[in-house]
Amino acid sequence: MKITKICCIGAGYVGGPTMAVIAQKCPHIQVTVVDLNEERIAAWNDADLSNIPIYEPGLDAIVGEARGRNLFFSTDVDKAIHEAQIIFISVNTPTKTYGKGKGMAADLKYIELCSRQIARVAKDNKIVVEKSTLPVRTAEAIKSILDNTGNGVQFQILSNPEFLAEGTAVEDLLNPDRILIGGDTTAEGQEAIQALVDVYSNWVATDKILTTNVWSSELSKLTANAFLAQRISSINAMSELCEKTGANVNEVAKAIGMDSRIGPKFLKASVGFGGSCFQKDILNLVYIAKSYGLYQVADYWEQVIIMNDHQKRRFSNTIVRTLYNTVSDKKIAFLGWAFKKDTNDTRESAAIYVADDLINEHANIAVYDPKVSNKKIMDDLNYLETRSVEDNNSSVKSYSDPYEACQDAHAIAVLTEWDEFKTYDWQRIYDSMKKPAFIFDGRNLLNAKDLETIGFVYQGVGS
Ligand code: NAD
Ligand code: UGA
Repeated sequence: MKITKICCIGAGYVGGPTMAVIAQKCPHIQVTVVDLNEERIAAWNDADLSNIPIYEPGLDAIVGEARGRNLFFSTDVDKAIHEAQIIFISVNTPTKTYGKGKGMAADLKYIELCSRQIARVAKDNKIVVEKSTLPVRTAEAIKSILDNTGNGVQFQILSNPEFLAEGTAVEDLLNPDRILIGGDTTAEGQEAIQALVDVYSNWVATDKILTTNVWSSELSKLTANAFLAQRISSINAMSELCEKTGANVNEVAKAIGMDSRIGPKFLKASVGFGGSCFQKDILNLVYIAKSYGLYQVADYWEQVIIMNDHQKRRFSNTIVRTLYNTVSDKKIAFLGWAFKKDTNDTRESAAIYVADDLINEHANIAVYDPKVSNKKIMDDLNYLETRSVEDNNSSVKSYSDPYEACQDAHAIAVLTEWDEFKTYDWQRIYDSMKKPAFIFDGRNLLNAKDLETIGFVYQGVGS
């Protein structure tokens, strides 16, 4: 089957960048990204590329090249579904906040809405691709909805999970470690798989395109995120032991990472992992395991989340304890609010929880993040519903100048590993702060020795 028209439902962190790269690499394919969120679509269409809604290094140039040529952003979901041969579903699948599975299971209401819309609109055969991260066996539910519409259209459901990480999305999409495509073992299923393989083959070597059955593909995505998050919780668990024993977690990470069986990546101790997916996907995995009665499996993976929550709380406790057991009315400067560098995404960022703890202790928080707006910071805190909007407003102030954020502060907390923090005039910052001046480096980003020479009291994670 020759693919000439693709549509993607969901213009978020995955749908936007993924489709932009497909469009750039496949100029012969018309790619339309649709979303119900009019504001988001308008931003994707903004003539000024610095206003596209997602900040990822290199993304503006790719959108600039393909947009209007073969890449389109629209709110007309029906039209895009009607025209496309392949429909990617890239909508959000957050943790359920109500009913059965509340706080654990993935909320599949957006997936179901998309499936019903496709079922209603499609008048010819379609390949429907699960791009969102989904519980294993979701394809069964989607197929059941699609096959019961009565308009005689044949659907093939593929699972094609996305492994990009934010901040490196463009690089990950251009040079993926692998592309995973799961489909039916029937002849029609294999034909659909081949159609999608042919799309990716425009820029990905075929030996990196892995095809499996649908259930393996769905479960591999949850498994990959669980393993990645587990490494962070493992090194963070060691960081606490390092602090008690005089070992240094950076040295330990280097020593174990040189074992080729362990490998050096994802061993950076931190204030705890954030982001929209690790916690959500592991909770979902735990829920699935429990639903099959696999309680030991569920408990094993849940510990990754328990450790991560402990690490965030431990960080804020350390700040309070070190500042003579009180941060009341003290200014604490936060460098960074995003959950990692090179993104404007703040979902589940450790900064939110550390700030919440410190506000409970009546601290005044001064935030500087190069990409996160004051509105986003306040929305994140208000979403927790720990206190009134007015109380949050009076406890937190954000700054567009890091030096101002740090002025008169008792302590600095580094919450995001933005490269620019390393280039600051730290002597100038020290001179403007209350003494003793503390730095709590939640990313082990800064040079402890240099800062201590200036006069700072430096405390990293696990050192
Ligand atoms: P997102 O919230 O940024 O984007 C989802 C978009 O879907 C929103 O703009 C929303 O308005 C839209 N949407 C929801 N229902 C819709 C409907 N019925 N019709 C049209 N539009 C609709 O989410 P995201 O971060 O892009 O994540 C999407 C999926 O990809 C999730 O399952 C996530 O787990 C997975 N994933 C995310 C990442 C990541 O780095 N963010 C990486 C890999 C996988
Ligand atoms: C993660 C995975 O890396 C992607 O493969 C996956 O596609 C994505 O989740 C998803 O499914 O959404 P992402 O959350 O964007 O990507 O970013 P990561 O680089 O994985 O970082 C996640 C969190 O872990 C960040 O807060 C980061 O600071 C933290 N981290 C990462 C550490 O604390 N230490 C490390 O060594 C690595």
